[in-house]
Amino acid sequence: MEIIKKINDCKLIINRLREKGYKIGFVPTMGFLHEGHINLIRMAKKDCDKVFISIFVNPTQFGPDEDFKKYPRDIKRDSALAEKEGVDYIFYPTVQEMYGSDHKTMVEVKELGKIMCGQHRPGHFEGVTTIVLKLFNIIDAHKAYFGQKDYQQMIIIKKMAADLNLDIEIVSGPTIRERDGLAISSRNRYLSAEERRNAAILYECLNLAEDMVKNGEKELGKIKKIILGKLEDNRFVKSVDYFEFRDPRTLEEIKRADKKYKGILAAAAVWFGKTRLIDNKIIKV
Ligand code: PAF
Repeated sequence: MEIIKKINDCKLIINRLREKGYKIGFVPTMGFLHEGHINLIRMAKKDCDKVFISIFVNPTQFGPDEDFKKYPRDIKRDSALAEKEGVDYIFYPTVQEMYGSDHKTMVEVKELGKIMCGQHRPGHFEGVTTIVLKLFNIIDAHKAYFGQKDYQQMIIIKKMAADLNLDIEIVSGPTIRERDGLAISSRNRYLSAEERRNAAILYECLNLAEDMVKNGEKELGKIKKIILGKLEDNRFVKSVDYFEFRDPRTLEEIKRADKKYKGILAAAAVWFGKTRLIDNKIIKV
């Protein structure tokens, strides 16, 4: 496995691999690899001849009061894990290498980037789409892999790839969960022991919403009210950014669980103390 720090070196390697006819898979990450990333790497290994991952904590997707500085970083641990999984190359650039000192261009997927997490984290998705497009231009892969835990991110990246005619297939991988259902995320490590125990309530709420729809409740506003009540009753929940029902393909809001929807995305962002967790589930109607 090779660790590449420079954009030009990465491009040279990609060109050589492409000339040889290899199929290239790419898993973009911000490092501190967990089971969710490992699962995406395994999917890429199955589909492709050569697998790249990137490790880059992207400053432009963090707000001024967010956790950019304290975001967990451990390249030694990450490279050992990646090597064990058979990753061929890690692209590990510095912020200076990626943005220089005069970066001006940002990529925006209109509307989709302003709802749900975008409403509560202004500029976040512009940061994500900008870095992802830059990475796609450097790592010219055939397929790129994203986890469904960040469902809105995955839809926005798919839309960007379609709108900008990118020659890359966006593949989504399932949310990987702890035993109690908590979605695995690098941010779970910020939780205190008590917050961690209580954080499972997020997945319980998604399951509760699913049960209510399956038991015939059509008014999603009613379900939302019950779920918000349950979350607010938990003393480890500091606040709820949103709990919403959306069309899984377009992210348009859904108010009634009509049969015309094949599935309904239930998605939430909830603060446990200083930690913001997101999760989602597609409910079959
Ligand atoms: O999902 C993430 O880890 C990041 O948002 C991504 C896609 C690597 C862009 O920085």
